[in-house]
Order: sequence, then C-alpha cells, then structure tokens
Amino acid sequence: MNIDINQYQQLLKISKELLIQADIDHVLTISMDRLIEISGAERGIIILFDEAGDSLFQTARQLEQKDIEHPEFEISRTIIEQVRSSEQPLYLPNAMEHPSLKKSNSVGELRLLSVICLPLVHQKKLFGVIYLDNRTIEGAFQSDTFAFVQSFADFISLAAHHALSRKQLENRQDALEEELRTRYDFDAIVCHSPQMIQVLQTVSQVADTDVPVLVEGESGTGKELIARALHYNSQRRQKPLLTVNCAAFPDDLLESEFFGHEKGAFTGAFKSRKGKFEQANGSTIFLDEIDEMSPALQVKLLRVIQWCEFTPLGSDEARKSDVRIVAACKTPLKSLVESGKFREDLYYRLHVFCIKVPPLRERKEDIILLAEHFLKDAAIQMQKDLPKLSAIAKQTLQHYSFPGNVRELENIIRRAVILCKDKTIEPEHFPEEITKSSLKFDQDDTSQFPTFKQAKQKIVDEFERQYLLRVLHESNGVIAKAAQLAGMHTKNFHQKLNKHNIHINKTNSKSQVPNSK
Ligand SMILES: Nc1ncnc2c1ncn2[C@@H]1O[C@H](COP(=O)(O)OP(=O)(O)OP(=O)(O)O)[C@@H](O)[C@H]1O
Ligand SMILES: [Mg+2]
Repeated sequence: MNIDINQYQQLLKISKELLIQADIDHVLTISMDRLIEISGAERGIIILFDEAGDSLFQTARQLEQKDIEHPEFEISRTIIEQVRSSEQPLYLPNAMEHPSLKKSNSVGELRLLSVICLPLVHQKKLFGVIYLDNRTIEGAFQSDTFAFVQSFADFISLAAHHALSRKQLENRQDALEEELRTRYDFDAIVCHSPQMIQVLQTVSQVADTDVPVLVEGESGTGKELIARALHYNSQRRQKPLLTVNCAAFPDDLLESEFFGHEKGAFTGAFKSRKGKFEQANGSTIFLDEIDEMSPALQVKLLRVIQWCEFTPLGSDEARKSDVRIVAACKTPLKSLVESGKFREDLYYRLHVFCIKVPPLRERKEDIILLAEHFLKDAAIQMQKDLPKLSAIAKQTLQHYSFPGNVRELENIIRRAVILCKDKTIEPEHFPEEITKSSLKFDQDDTSQFPTFKQAKQKIVDEFERQYLLRVLHESNGVIAKAAQLAGMHTKNFHQKLNKHNIHINKTNSKSQVPNSK
C-alpha cells in the first residue's frame, strides 16, 4: 500500500473527527463526505446490514455534501450485491467493460465508469458496504486512492461499529427503562386482600407528593416494590430511583456513599466522588434498612431532610439537592425510638406517611393469586407449559405461615416449576417444611384423621371462598355483576357469601371491595 504523509495526516484528522461522533448517522455522513472529497468520486453510499442481512442504515451522498434523493435509482445494486456476497473489494476503471458487469442493466443504464466498492468488516464479519463512483471520468481513481480508501474503510468499520453498539445500548436502555416503569406500576403489585388494596390506595395518594415515606414490613413482604411504585408513579419517574442499603456499609463508607467525598478526604480517596444524594437530585432516594443506620448518620440525614442540604466528606461547603426520601425498615421504628436506638426527631420526619406492608400470613387471600402470578412468570422464564396448582397444593400453601413472606412463596413456586414434570403441581413439589406445616394444621384442626368426605369438603369450601373473592374482585365488589359472572342467582350468591363470612366493605373509598372475616 502506498499512502503518502499527506494522506496519513488527512486520515488522522478524519479519524479524530469520527471518534467523537456518538451518532451513527453522523458517522456515516461525515465518512461519506470526506471520502467523496478525497477520492474524486461523484457519489457514494454506505449501507450497514443487520444480523439478518437486511439494510439497517444507509447514507447516500453526492458532491457538495448533499444527500442523494433516491439512491435506489442512482446506484448499481448489482455491484453492491457482488461485493457483499464475495466479500471482496471491486476497483474498476470502467464498470461497463467489466466482464461480470457488462450485462448488468443498472451498470448500463447508469453508464457507470469508475467504481470502488468495498466490504466493511468487523471481527471477520461483513456488516456493510462502501460504494463510490464517477460517471464522467474513466479511471478516475488512482491505485493509491484505492489503497487510501481501503485504509479509511477499516477506520469507518471501527467507528460505525462503535456508534452502532452505542445505539444498541441506548435502545436497550430505553427498553429497560420502559420495562421498569411498567414493572413497578400498580399492576405489578399483585393482590386482592383488603389490607393490600388499602396499601395501594395510600401509595397512590402519596406518590406524587414530595413528603418522605416510611415503608415498614417483615422481610420479603414487598417493601422495595412499594418504594418503586412510589417513585415510578411520581413526577420524578423520568430519573432513575437511587437505592442505598444502609446495612450494607460500615459507617464511614455509608457517609461517603450518601454525601460523596473530596479528593484526599480519607486514605484511598484519590478522586472526588458524588454521593447518592447529589446523584439523586430531582429524583427519589430509597434508603433501605434504615433501622440499621448509626446515630451519627441519623443526625446528618435529619439535616438533609430539614434543609435539603449536605456536606461531602472533606469539604466545608454545604450543597443542595432536591431529593424525595423513601425509607424502609423491618423493625418498626417506633420500637427503636423507645429503646433509644433511633432519633425521635428523625423518626417524626420520616413517619409523616408510614405504609405498613402486612405479612403474607395476614392476607391469605393473596397467596393463591401471587402463586399463580409467579407460576406464570416462572413458566415463561423456563420456557415450560404453564402448570396448574392442584387443589391440595393450593390448600397446602394456604395453610403455611410463610415466615419469608412473598419472596419465600416466589422461591417455592420457582422450585416447584423446576421439579414438576407433569402439568399439575402437587404438594410433593414443595419443600418438606411446607407440607409438614400443612399436616400439622390438619391435625390441630381435627382430633382425628379426616375421612375422605371431610377432606374433600374442606377443599371445596376453600375453593368456594377463593372463587367468591376472585369474582368479587373482578366485579369491583358489585354483587349483581359478580353473581352474573359466576352464573348464579343473586340470592344464591348472597347465601354463599354469608356462608363464607365475606362482607363487602362499603366504607372503603374505592367502595365495595370484598372483605373476608
Ligand atoms: N404484591 C406483590 N406482587 C408481586 N410480586 C411481589 C409482591 N410482593 C412482593 N413481590 C415479589 O417478592 C419479592 C420480594 O419483594 P421485595 O424485595 O419488594 O421485598 P422486601 O420487603 O423489600 O424484602 P427485604 O425485606 O428482604 O428487603 C420480589 O421478587 C418482589 O417482586
Ligand atoms: Mg428490600
């Protein structure tokens, strides 16, 4: 290859210009304009292909840095296809004289003379084609121009590939953000127990305000899901929710995690770093396991809440940040205040709105609904046909106390989907402690082993109860509509509700949400 120093300098200049381009269309347009300028071509086109070989991006340019309006009528597809399939460059002084192109209609109609066409290759894979032509001069491209265009093509491959990867990443990020939004809206929170409906009502009332919210609940009850629903249903949802687990860091590191630090603030602080409070400006910060926070940090947090102000470690300058705080704890903060482990003033600041997420054992109506939800998720993820829960499996779950709450139920179902080889999940697919606890319940319940009739009746009763709750949920608590959905007379429907002690809670603001006692 014979490239002179002048051309090297040009190449270097263009490389720098391309490297700073993040946008794929810009990369292609700049590349094409420079190539036309340097090579003496009249027109040029770059096409990038996707994995399936379809055209993904295309830039067609002519002299004076203008777009070609209808490149499909102006450029020989035969030449492009030939380079694409052979993956070999074409360098032609007169395309009309070339043995394999003489008969091509497009070459003849367009009266093509000088042509350079090169494959764009990245990591040994063809992903595009560059085409240049000149229809007025035969042999317009010298051999050193061809060599130069070849070197430039390598560079365009690299720059285009980077820009494409970046674009794919951006698309993926957009898709993920969209997924996050839908994943954490109210529909993602599966429930029909009155307690959880109440929780969701509070979430919807308080989400779009700036007041701090405290989410209390046992392990695995869904506190983080609630925190996300609060953020993704607020005006702040355009920015990402920032989470800090207060139990995951020792005190000094947590302080730097929260407020950031200046260079040299402590051994190992080689660079200054923004803390989560600064990053969360305009967004929400989720302080998980706040019950684990030390008294020293509690003071600093109080200051942020009171004055929207904090000071990075090693700095004496206070900074402002507009942050909405959502905190979560497993131990009720009130009890920690009483035992002197949590500051009372901070408690009152955080406790403006307290959402208590009830444990699963206190909202048994949610168990089967959640189990079926996780079943669907697991079957999709594992690419299995959707199995059913047998009546006994449902009963077993209903009788279990779920110390690990919803997360435990989720794990139980995932495990069962793996173990279940058939279409129905049975208690044998559950861990032993669950079936044992169900048996224990039965023994507590009845002094002797139940007869077949008794056992069957129990399952039928449970089924009826679940069915009634479900159909009432579907009909928003309107009994006439629920009876119609169930194919029953309203009178019979009422009798069933009475039998199962199910009452419609008319005081609820959403009105007529079923309440079971
Ligand atoms: N109502 C619900 N609907 C659907 N999924 C739920 C529900 N509640 C909890 N989950 C799921 O259960 C799991 C545990 O929920 P999450 O992490 O929000 O609980 P947590 O209270 O923050 O737990 P921990 O106390 O361990 O931090 C998650 O996978 C979550 O998606
Ligand atoms: Mg959590």
